[in-house]
Amino acid sequence: MEKMILNGKLVAQTEIKVDFEDRGYQFGDGIYEVIRVYNGQLFTAEEHLKRLMDSAKHIFLSVPYSASEINEQLQELVKANSLESGIIYLQITRGVSPRNHAFPNPSVDCMYIAKTKAVPRSTANADTGVNAITTEDIRWLRCDIKSLNLLGNILAKQKAAEAGCFEAIQHRDGTVTEGSSSNVSIVSGGKIITHPANNLILNGISRQVMLHLCASNDIPVEEREFTVDELMNAEEVFLTGTTIEVLPIIKIDGTVIGDGQPGQITQKLQELFSNEVERQCGVRN
Ligand SMILES: Cc1ncc(COP(=O)(O)O)c(C=O)c1O
Repeated sequence: MEKMILNGKLVAQTEIKVDFEDRGYQFGDGIYEVIRVYNGQLFTAEEHLKRLMDSAKHIFLSVPYSASEINEQLQELVKANSLESGIIYLQITRGVSPRNHAFPNPSVDCMYIAKTKAVPRSTANADTGVNAITTEDIRWLRCDIKSLNLLGNILAKQKAAEAGCFEAIQHRDGTVTEGSSSNVSIVSGGKIITHPANNLILNGISRQVMLHLCASNDIPVEEREFTVDELMNAEEVFLTGTTIEVLPIIKIDGTVIGDGQPGQITQKLQELFSNEVERQCGVRN
């Protein structure tokens, strides 16, 4: 029987019911994280849980557990479900209360659930690269918060899906921000360029791993805004994200990027990322 976490306790998945007045259900009033598990080990869990706590703080949500308590609970969950390779999805909402936009007063207990899902580590897309479209970024101005409100991201991803593409690369007035569920980087003049970690993007944990790997391997990086024009004329374009790791983009809006193959720097980063997974979790493809 598949186990989940409900408010800090391991329970059978069938025991979990959502109240129609849960604020996550009615308003998207909550936060979430997705953490990769390799070889039964959580990858970059501390970084994910720090971001979870930061997101909670930004929306004035009080979480009754510390990051290290949640980390231990998640490790128990992985063990209980014998998860080898996959993800943990975790979400915390502001709890159940009669519908009213303002926070419940007095406050109510938050609703915290976590679930595992087995996902094999696939290299098919990583080897060939994928296609993307560009689209206007219509989201709010606090994209640094990993909020349950994902309508802007969903509409962008659906547009990509309808175009037969893997990802939608969003831009604000011609400045590239990020993918609908990933960060975007380009290689231009042999240098990696990626949007600065501010309120307009989610500071991806994989993005942070990539930046550390660049720093320790003398790969030049510039964290600055870049335009759709620079994107389309880049030598290489790649995405980073928890489930995709480092994923090459070979075509955008039907235009071939570089020579239409995963680029050298992207491939180097894929190798470095795999080494890092092996270092932290002891597993390789
Ligand atoms: C909008 C957005 N940007 C970036 C990312 C990548 O973040 P991470 O590397 O932490 O998975 C995600 C991941 O889901 C995302 O939804």
